[in-house]
Amino acid sequence: MPIGTVDDSLKLDNSEKRFTDTMTQSSLTVSTSDPLSPALAGLPIPRTHWRHKHLLGLEDLSAEEITYLLDCAEALHRATNQGRTKLDLLRGRTIANLFFENSTRTKNSFSLAAKRLGADTVEFSSSGSSVAKGETFIDTAKTIEAMIVDAVVVRHSSPGTPHLLAKHLNCSVLNAGDGPHEHPTQGLLDILTIRQHRGSLAGLTVALVGDIAHSRTARSNIWGLLKLGAKVIVCGPATLVSKNWEKLGVEVEHNLDKILHRCDVLNLLRIQFERQAIRPFPSVHEYMLLYAMNKERIERSKEDILIMAPGPINRGVELTPEVADGPHSVILEQVTNGIAIRMAALWLMLNAQSPTQATAS
Ligand code: CP
Repeated sequence: MPIGTVDDSLKLDNSEKRFTDTMTQSSLTVSTSDPLSPALAGLPIPRTHWRHKHLLGLEDLSAEEITYLLDCAEALHRATNQGRTKLDLLRGRTIANLFFENSTRTKNSFSLAAKRLGADTVEFSSSGSSVAKGETFIDTAKTIEAMIVDAVVVRHSSPGTPHLLAKHLNCSVLNAGDGPHEHPTQGLLDILTIRQHRGSLAGLTVALVGDIAHSRTARSNIWGLLKLGAKVIVCGPATLVSKNWEKLGVEVEHNLDKILHRCDVLNLLRIQFERQAIRPFPSVHEYMLLYAMNKERIERSKEDILIMAPGPINRGVELTPEVADGPHSVILEQVTNGIAIRMAALWLMLNAQSPTQATAS
């Protein structure tokens, strides 16, 4: 898939069909032999064969695969003593972080996750690299791969970039955010955080609020949440939340105050000013009046509502500081869960088995 071809924000022509296909995939093969490393023996991880070499998006994973990934993340979190100790599950392997866009959470947590599993890391940022001398994206990626890396984690402003790399490289590719398309590990860590608080996603109502149009986090959350049985509402100004989203199976609402009482979780998405050619609302102040979570809106919400944000947050725009730092907020838990999810993602993708291997064992 060449860079830019996923740009049509929803890919609505065939996404419904692919979504249905994913929902009807059969369960993972369960093996009687244990493919897990001895370091994880005895942990409550189901003995399944992981078949995906790449993590490109949650659209591609079944409900069983997402659940397995979440279970692995929790097991690895426990096995590393909440991240205080290291395992050697990826000793001798090298992970390259290829970031062509800024990042604080994703880049550092992928790096920490790799190190906690015993891998070496290569940290590449486009700024300060030979990209400035005219080296192409593919040449850059192939150059990094030639340093004998086993996986690349890529973030890029162009949708489809990880898919392109998966075609050109031999190693595993993990999507760390491709433009407004998908951000699968963010979706997974959001879902893990909800599961930890509520036990299950089934039957919960989760609202994604804000800049849905430009949000890769929204897309990954929608795929994952729907597959695990949650109801999803997308809410924001009509200029940022098109009616077309209904085709993905979500409810569209433009008035936050109308849905507040029904929501178990609010995930407040950042207004991505940097991806907008024209400001989609008259003023930031007006947006804040209509959509910012504040103390008064918390009082009109369910008593146990979870307030989430993928970050970075614009304090005072998507939510007020008293809500961001208040008792309902799980924003920093999301960050902590990012390391566990990324450990699981790296470990699984680097131990993917082809269907032939799975059958043989
Ligand atoms: N949520 C997220 O992707 O944050 P970063 O841009 O800091 O990685």
